[in-house]
Amino acid sequence: MTQATEPILQLRGVDKSFGAVQVLHEVDLSIYPGQVTALVGDNGAGKSTLVKCVAGIYNIDAGDYLFEGKPVQVSNPRDAAALGIEIVYQDLALCDNLDIVQNMFLGREPKSGIVLDEGQMEIKARDTLASLSVRTVSSVRQLVASLSGGQRQTVAIAKSVLWNSKVVMLDEPTAALGVAQTRQVLDLVRRLADNGLGVLLISHNMNDVKEVSDRITALYLGRVAADIPAADVTTGQIVELITSGRSGEHGLAPAVAQESA
Ligand SMILES: Nc1ncnc2c1ncn2[C@@H]1O[C@H](COP(=O)(O)OP(=O)(O)O)[C@@H](O)[C@H]1O
Ligand SMILES: [Mg+2]
Repeated sequence: MTQATEPILQLRGVDKSFGAVQVLHEVDLSIYPGQVTALVGDNGAGKSTLVKCVAGIYNIDAGDYLFEGKPVQVSNPRDAAALGIEIVYQDLALCDNLDIVQNMFLGREPKSGIVLDEGQMEIKARDTLASLSVRTVSSVRQLVASLSGGQRQTVAIAKSVLWNSKVVMLDEPTAALGVAQTRQVLDLVRRLADNGLGVLLISHNMNDVKEVSDRITALYLGRVAADIPAADVTTGQIVELITSGRSGEHGLAPAVAQESA
């Protein structure tokens, strides 16, 4: 697996509340270039909230946000996109009645004044899919309605790397997929990292997590219970970290784990 370098993206001591309810407590998160970091945790642990803080959809209440080692202000999704941070949502934001090219360029004002025409968009869409070794899509002019769940996820992921992104975060990308399609999507997730991107993968499937990730960050009731190389823990230990915040020498101190629960 890839050698750890400096994180491309780092959060330190992040708090986030909704009204009186504190959802994230002093969360540290590091995403490394060329690596898949898995973000795991039970329902309600705060995974989606954390990803939305990174993506600028929510503003953090406290803590530091560093990108490429420098403090940055990410107040909205536009700020995140400008840094090259993309999010692939659980519920895919693709339009059935549009084709692959149209979907990949949907909602994107061209950056730096470059306006692409249809022909150029088609070429860019095809090149992007090719760069990710996607061979399961026969034509980029296919309507998204005609695609399988796995192909749709593939298009959503390709869309996220269309603009030279540096960090891609995926919230449960395989949740609705069968075995073969899950395989395709996991291969693609791995390839994103192998192409040098920093990848954050939220998943409930511990086999997927063990297989595809380099590091694992476990959230327990809004606190980071562990941030460890994937090779250092078993699937059983990850499950324990998720359900109790502790496993052997890993995890929150007993007092903290109990106080949180
Ligand atoms: N917009 C919101 N307003 C109020 N509470 C929220 C909001 N979003 C999430 N929460 C609460 O924050 C907690 C964490 O939710 P979430 O981040 O979705 O967890 P996960 O993705 O790990 O399942 C939950 O208790 C949830 O009810
Ligand atoms: Mg969630």
